[in-house]
Amino acid sequence: MMRRPYLAANWKMHKTVAEAKAFVAEFLPLVDGVEDRDVVLCPSYLALRAVVQGTEGGAVRVAAQNMAAEPEGAFTGEVSAAMLLEAGVDAVILGHSERRALYAETDEELARKVPAALEAGLEPILCVGETEPEREADATEAVLLRQVSTGLSAVADERLAEVVVAYEPVWAIGTGITASADQAREAIEFIRAVVSGRSRDAAAEIRIIYGGSVKPENAAELLVEEGIDGALVGGASLDPEAFAKIVEAA
Ligand code: PGA
Repeated sequence: MMRRPYLAANWKMHKTVAEAKAFVAEFLPLVDGVEDRDVVLCPSYLALRAVVQGTEGGAVRVAAQNMAAEPEGAFTGEVSAAMLLEAGVDAVILGHSERRALYAETDEELARKVPAALEAGLEPILCVGETEPEREADATEAVLLRQVSTGLSAVADERLAEVVVAYEPVWAIGTGITASADQAREAIEFIRAVVSGRSRDAAAEIRIIYGGSVKPENAAELLVEEGIDGALVGGASLDPEAFAKIVEAA
C-alpha cells in the first residue's frame, strides 16, 4: 500500500497577509513539479484567502488551523466549516496541542469536530501526542489510545482513511528536541494499531505524520522511516527554503 506523503506547514500565529503572499511567491517555484505528495500550507484565518488565491491552479493545498464543531450560531470568535470552504480551503488542523493546552480543547470536542469537517468536505488533520510527564510516567500509549479513539469515535469506518493523524509529542514541539526516529515510528505504529482495531483497510491507508521540531537537517532521517507518512512542521515552515527542503526530503 503506497500512502502519498503529506507535508503540512503550520504557521500558527505568524505571517500577516502581506508576509503570507511573499512566502507563496518564493515557495511555489521551489516546489514546482512536486506532484507525488500533498503539500499543505496552514496560515491564519485572515491569510487563508490570499494563500488560496496565490496557490490557485497548482498542486499546493491550503488548510486552516482550527474550526468550530457547530455549523453556525452564537459562538463569538469561531469560524465554521462552511466559511472555510467558501474561502477555498480544503483541510483543517484539529486538536493541536496548543489548542488543547492553551484553549482547553477536549477529546470530546474533537470527537465532534473531526466528523463535522469530513461531512463538510474538509480533510481533518487530527493532532495527538503525549506531554513529557506522560512519557516519563509510561503513559504515552494510554494517552494516544484515548486521543485517537475518542477523536475518531464518530467517524464511520469507511471514512477513517480520509483523516490525517499527526503524532506530535508535546515535548518536541517548538523545543528543538525531535523525537528519535525510533520513538516516532513506535508511536505511529501504535496509532496505526488503534485504527486497525476499527478497520484494517483504513489502517493500511490512513496517513500518520510526525510533528515536533522537524527541520531540513533531520527531516530525511524521520521521513525514511517505514510508516511515517510525512510531517507537520511549525517553526521551520515559516521559511520557504527550509520548508521546500523538508518537502524534498519526503
Ligand atoms: P515545531 O511545531 O515544528 O515548531 O516544533 C510543530 C507543530 O506544532 O505543529
